[in-house]
Amino acid sequence: MSAPYGGGPVSTEARKPMTLHRLREMHAKGEPIAMLTCYDAGYAKLLDGAGVDCLLIGDSLGMVVQGHSSTLPVTLEQMVYHTACVARGNRSAWVIGDLPFASYQASNEQALHSAAALMQAGAHMVKLEGGGWAAETVHFLVQRGIPVCAHLGLTPQSVHALGGYRIQGRDEDSAATMKRQARELADAGATMMVLELVPSALANEVTAGTPLITIGIGAGRGCSGQVLVLHDMLGVTQGRQPRFLRNFMEGAPSIDAAIRLYVSEVKARRFPDDAIHGY
Ligand code: KIV
Repeated sequence: MSAPYGGGPVSTEARKPMTLHRLREMHAKGEPIAMLTCYDAGYAKLLDGAGVDCLLIGDSLGMVVQGHSSTLPVTLEQMVYHTACVARGNRSAWVIGDLPFASYQASNEQALHSAAALMQAGAHMVKLEGGGWAAETVHFLVQRGIPVCAHLGLTPQSVHALGGYRIQGRDEDSAATMKRQARELADAGATMMVLELVPSALANEVTAGTPLITIGIGAGRGCSGQVLVLHDMLGVTQGRQPRFLRNFMEGAPSIDAAIRLYVSEVKARRFPDDAIHGY
């Protein structure tokens, strides 16, 4: 008898565990990386089995799981809990834990304490938002053996400072600042970078101009890979949808099929289609 509540067989025996080395290789060969957010063990098992390369325990869980209007209320304790849930369900995907608001900005020591908590819960890498000041934090963590994914463009933890969820890097000055910050973060040792709500042309310049593995969300098809929020791409999120989003449940017979479609569309560079989803 199979175990109740999703305890069925795992279909990932054939997949080798993802490594940073393999992700770098994929980036170098131009093989697109498929990432999705994930917050629990059941979905971790499903996404891993469907071939998703990287699972991001994003602080977007504050909005799509907890029902807040921003990511700001999410705590480190909650991120540790969800990271541990995902790590238990996952077999082979690369696991990235998001450092929540105010858990890394105060000092390098605070960042190390918070990053260590996520790594001990099962993350392989941590993600943090921001440029400029953040380069020193990235350097401190990387020097201590913690791989870091940076995040530029629309950084949701700064939503109030940015004046809302709006496209970043549209004018010459802000585009130049983003390119400089991306280089600084790469020099500091960041391996990966999420680019959120950025014009495709600028995302392409960051991808070409740095060694960073760039993961786009609303940043065009030229990035090294793509990420979407799970609830958004499965059509769970209601209301006005951003232009960059595609509902992969439309026409799909199951959630598993929708996830597999996402993976194959990203791998074939059919998603995103810049004419439809780009800025
Ligand atoms: O928190 C999150 O899910 C994210 C993604 C949108 C990249 O940062």
